[in-house]
Amino acid sequence: MCGIVGYYGPQNPKDIIVNGLKCLEYRGYDSAGVAIFNKGEFKRVRAEGKLSVLQGKLESEEFDGHIGIGHTRWATHGAPVERNAHPHTVAGVSIVHNGIIENYMQLREDLGEGTKFESETDSELVAHYIAQELKSEPSLLSAVLKVLPKLHGAYSILVVSKDHPDEMVAFKNGPPLIVGVAAGAIIIASDIQAIMPHTKKAVYLDDLEVVQVKGESFKIFNSKGVPVDKAVTTVDWTTDQAQKDGYPHFMLKEIYEQPRAVAKAIAPHINTSTHEVALKDVGLPDAYWATVERVFIVACGTSFYAGSVGKYLIEELARVPVEIDVASEFRYRNPVVPKNSLAIIISQSGETADTLAALRQLKQMGVTCVSICNVKNSTIDRETNGHLYMNSGVEIGVASTKAFTSTLAILNLVALQMAKAKKVLTSENEHLYAKALLAAPAQMETVLACDKFFADAANTLKEYRGFLYMGRGVSYPIALEGALKMKELAYMHAEGYAAGEMKHGPLALIDKRMAVVMLAPSDSLYEKTLSNLEEAKARGGEIISVGTLGNERLKSLSKHYLTLPQANWTINPILEAIPLQLLAYHVASALGNDVDQPRNLAKSVTVE
Ligand code: F6R
Repeated sequence: MCGIVGYYGPQNPKDIIVNGLKCLEYRGYDSAGVAIFNKGEFKRVRAEGKLSVLQGKLESEEFDGHIGIGHTRWATHGAPVERNAHPHTVAGVSIVHNGIIENYMQLREDLGEGTKFESETDSELVAHYIAQELKSEPSLLSAVLKVLPKLHGAYSILVVSKDHPDEMVAFKNGPPLIVGVAAGAIIIASDIQAIMPHTKKAVYLDDLEVVQVKGESFKIFNSKGVPVDKAVTTVDWTTDQAQKDGYPHFMLKEIYEQPRAVAKAIAPHINTSTHEVALKDVGLPDAYWATVERVFIVACGTSFYAGSVGKYLIEELARVPVEIDVASEFRYRNPVVPKNSLAIIISQSGETADTLAALRQLKQMGVTCVSICNVKNSTIDRETNGHLYMNSGVEIGVASTKAFTSTLAILNLVALQMAKAKKVLTSENEHLYAKALLAAPAQMETVLACDKFFADAANTLKEYRGFLYMGRGVSYPIALEGALKMKELAYMHAEGYAAGEMKHGPLALIDKRMAVVMLAPSDSLYEKTLSNLEEAKARGGEIISVGTLGNERLKSLSKHYLTLPQANWTINPILEAIPLQLLAYHVASALGNDVDQPRNLAKSVTVE
């Protein structure tokens, strides 16, 4: 993970780098640091903890140079303390690194016993190797090209050297690195967000490419030093969404943005006059969908749970078998993927290392891969054959919310598209499902009203020993997602279960101190879910139920009853997600936790 940024240009690098790091802090917030040219050398300032600590330290610092690099860290090797903070500097060479150097033990040994290390990181040795090469190499570029073949693993790295103050070199294998081309300046960063305040013109580096910045110009080479011609892309995102707009946290703002996000996700694909569904601009021929005989969905975390809902939707509507895997399992389990399989790769960031590796494996097998990403031009988006977009706008909160519900909406459309292509969906039903989707944003607005309930109840709810989330059918993955939200935000024990599984073990957990969150919307499984709820209540569980408005029996069995509007079964997961997000948000806030940046986590997981 980690975020890196480098600047070469006429402005004050301090402000540009710090502002860039602000945009990248979601990638890690264990420590931060900069190295900026000043009086003939790169002056390094580093701080343990969040970026604000570094900002405090930098207030009194002045720099007279026009080149510098910065880093915000998610610790992999070495504790999150200042001595392990980047940049790492060796003999005037400073580097920042995002990723993991897998052969670092060997490389450290090869450097010999005489080499002194300041940190326990895998990154510092890169500075050692480059400094060593620079003793005989004429440029930073040629030194980097010598070191590159020695490095195994995932990395994106920026390098500067006091002996080459007019040169900055960046290279990558795995994690993203983007070169922003501004008027008279170059800014390189892990995420386009850090670049967009300065320019919309960008070049996305591919693996094993090296960029050399000299003055205001740059050149790109392959790992052998052969120049590579790359297109400069114009980015069509805007940055204006990345403000809190009066909300106390980005997460709460993003929860509230969901109706609009879902509306934007579905807009390109539904004709609002005819209520016909047709996935637009996917990049695959329309005839393709009819040929799909099996679907593999691969993702991590919240995106995996969205994919799990997709399995129910696609199997029920299109009658095509679906396998769903977490990417870190898929990539190592030697999967059997029959001919005519479609892989759906889900990733908000489009950079998750395991998901990307699974995608590459699938492509090597010749499987057609369609991505559902939020970040356009992310690595996963660029490498898939077909592309669908969450269209959620920038998601800053580390816990994913609006990207989740937008993905659920897109998966509805994928199921409908496939069902149409397979001729198992009548046009009457197509219109019904399309109307249900179009109605979802307004229904989501009404569900947001439960914000007040959870805000008021949070002080009581935070006293529970743990939370058990239960649901059946499409509500089961939502129970898993609800539990994940509670774990990551409130740091409390929470588990999601298929409601029918309770009596096979988890029922033993239930007592007065265990909150049972029951997802019981009016659908074909409602009666069965209700029986499971009775079983939990009989054991003394405190029931918080989420059900459809007007279900008096559910209400009578529950300590708290949160209502959803009457909706199609395909839409219920989208509606149910909202109270569970708000529950976790308010419990975590009541506990005083950092909701936008939960401990030990980062938003973009670019290491495996
Ligand atoms: C949890 C959360 C994570 C991500 C996971 C995958 O709230 O956000 O579980 O869903 O790290 O990330 P993407 O979707 O970017 O591949």
